[in-house]
Amino acid sequence: MSEEEIAKLPGVGPAILDKLREAGYNDLMMIAVDSPRNLAELTEIGEATAAKIIAAAKKAADVGGFETGDVILERRKTVAKLGSCSKALDELMGGGFETRAITEFFGEFGSGKTQLCHQMAVNTTKPVADGGLDGHTIMIDTEQTFRPERITQMAEASELDPDEVLKKIHVARAFNSHHQTLLVDKAFETAKEFPVRLIVVDSLTAHFRAEYIGRGALAERQQMLNKHMHDLLRFGDVHNAVIAVTNQVSAKPDAFFGDPTRPIGGHIVGHTATFRIYLRKSKGGKRIARLIDSPNLPEAEAVFMVSEAGISD
Ligand code: GTP
Ligand code: MG
Repeated sequence: MSEEEIAKLPGVGPAILDKLREAGYNDLMMIAVDSPRNLAELTEIGEATAAKIIAAAKKAADVGGFETGDVILERRKTVAKLGSCSKALDELMGGGFETRAITEFFGEFGSGKTQLCHQMAVNTTKPVADGGLDGHTIMIDTEQTFRPERITQMAEASELDPDEVLKKIHVARAFNSHHQTLLVDKAFETAKEFPVRLIVVDSLTAHFRAEYIGRGALAERQQMLNKHMHDLLRFGDVHNAVIAVTNQVSAKPDAFFGDPTRPIGGHIVGHTATFRIYLRKSKGGKRIARLIDSPNLPEAEAVFMVSEAGISD
């Protein structure tokens, strides 16, 4: 549908359509809101041609104007919430993890980021009445920490059929940051076939941190991360899906951000994530989650457990 609309733009022939597709432009709006310079760079077409295509896309797309609060409230009503299996954590989140928003878990190794992502994937398969979304999950696994065995344990603890749950979790390993970003396009394809209601990127930042080293690379890294996160937001919007990403705080001072308790990814990740949850370990399997940044919820803490059965109070 979207691609057909792009193909109809004046000045877009099959060759340019291919270039646009390869650069990840699969939606009229993506073109309409881009700058000629960026589009030209990504697609390797001339800047003048890019400007013409953008102008045409602006005309064809409904770039939108202002909306009144009541219209926005109506749309907010379609936002669904995914449970975590911890009442305290759900309460912290105002009833669960919201769709159409990015929730970022950050914390040091072993703080429970990956465990939470596994639990969310299991819970997504549950019916809405049980805190689920009756849907499938896409997992972009950058550290190869997805464990089907953990899914089985968590599914059994929730009295779900593990095989059915595993069939609803679509996992792809991302080998580098570029591959990671391309997998979001793949996610759009998978979502044509399955009702995907959760997309996880665990870890969002690890590849970026490993690949873009030194001050000179910082701007480019942030630019790539920014685009990646906006692609994820778009996925969440189109599919009314929860977006969960993880981010490790460095135990050692980061080259860019001296403070070891600050999440990597700097202000780009922080500003684009809708909810940021800082996780830390406590005694006896306990974890403390602190909601740091939210547009509508107070800053507060919740205590939950990580055990063989998964997340619980
Ligand atoms: P990094 O990815 O290394 O940054 O850490 P993370 O925040 O993703 O940590 P993760 O979610 O993988 O948490 C790992 C911790 O969860 C372990 O150290 C255990 O404390 C706990 N855990 C994982 N599996 C089990 C389990 O089967 N039983 C119990 N009791 N705890 C578990
Ligand atoms: Mg992890």
